[in-house]
Amino acid sequence: MSTLKLGEHGPEIFPQGLGCMGMSAFYAGAEHDESVATLERALDLGVDLFDTSDVYGPHTNEELLGAFLAEGDRRARVTLATKFAISYTADGAREIRGDAAYVKQAAEASLRRLRTDVIDLYYMHRRDVRVPIEETVGAMAELVREGKVRHLGLSEVTAKELHAAAAVHPIAAVQSEWSLFTRDIEESVVPAVREVGAALVAYSPLGRGFLTGAWASAETLPKGDFRRLQPRFTGDNAAANAAILAPLRTIAEAHGVTPAQVALAWVQSRTRAWGLSVVPIPGTTKRHRLEENVAAVDLVLTDAELAALEPIAGQVTGGRYPDMAGTFNDRD
Ligand SMILES: NC(=O)c1ccc[n+]([C@@H]2O[C@H](COP(=O)([O-])OP(=O)(O)OC[C@H]3O[C@@H](n4cnc5c(N)ncnc54)[C@H](OP(=O)(O)O)[C@@H]3O)[C@@H](O)[C@H]2O)c1
Repeated sequence: MSTLKLGEHGPEIFPQGLGCMGMSAFYAGAEHDESVATLERALDLGVDLFDTSDVYGPHTNEELLGAFLAEGDRRARVTLATKFAISYTADGAREIRGDAAYVKQAAEASLRRLRTDVIDLYYMHRRDVRVPIEETVGAMAELVREGKVRHLGLSEVTAKELHAAAAVHPIAAVQSEWSLFTRDIEESVVPAVREVGAALVAYSPLGRGFLTGAWASAETLPKGDFRRLQPRFTGDNAAANAAILAPLRTIAEAHGVTPAQVALAWVQSRTRAWGLSVVPIPGTTKRHRLEENVAAVDLVLTDAELAALEPIAGQVTGGRYPDMAGTFNDRD
């Protein structure tokens, strides 16, 4: 099993991470005991990059991981990634903060909830446009100097912002949505990631579950599930987007694997296609799906299969988020 390097100066990691968000937030249906069993199984299988954020819950996802990692030697076996910047005010309004004082306060709170003295990979989750990115990354760099953080990451940044950040401190990873369904980072962000020597951590590599075929319209998901608000998963868009996935199903049948595994193999294939470390972090709350996803690490798609998947992203209708404010597209 080959490993991937998390940026030029980062650790070697298993080539697929685990997205923990759905265990506590945004998606309906997670069960605590099965989520914990999934974390345990991930360690057994060698998955070492665990991805969370202070906003997942808020806070409860970090608390879940903190309690899990406090037992035995688990903490030492994990590259623990969390994020700051998104919070909610008392009246429920979403706020993005990147000022130096906030970065330090958020890191201290995450360390406490995660029950650890160091965060392996600390991401700016969203860019606070009121603050120069140099100030935000400068505060993050100070956390590295203090030994509270090992490596720095950025999520949903533009190429320009990444270059400005990397001039302040090496950036180990950029986390962006990337799947055979969502490829808009390829125009400028991915080349910039390669230029600064970072890894690309691909979030929602299963298109938030849509690419797996487990559901064809978010309207079938329970009330309160965030995906019911995402334009590409509802109404006419959902039907149109399900129809364009036919090549994915055909390739899965030819290999005797699932569409989820083909979707993950496509993301993994970006490592060779772009010459940089690309680490998908599929999210699951269930052991059997984790096992299915990890098995995809060994799946290699042929050039003909990659070519058959190529048109999909260009045919997707409907935006990634109900409100694109705060995403890199908003500023690119
Ligand atoms: N930086 C950011 O702004 C950002 C944004 C979104 C997400 N993320 C991170 O990225 C991680 C992954 O993204 P994501 O969770 O949004 O989307 P995803 O990984 O594309 O899809 C997750 C969904 O797919 C389902 N699933 C997983 N494996 C499956 C399989 N083999 N077959 C069928 N269904 C399967 C999961 O349900 P079950 O739990 O039922 O398996 C879940 O509903 C998150 O956990 C989070 O850590 C970051």
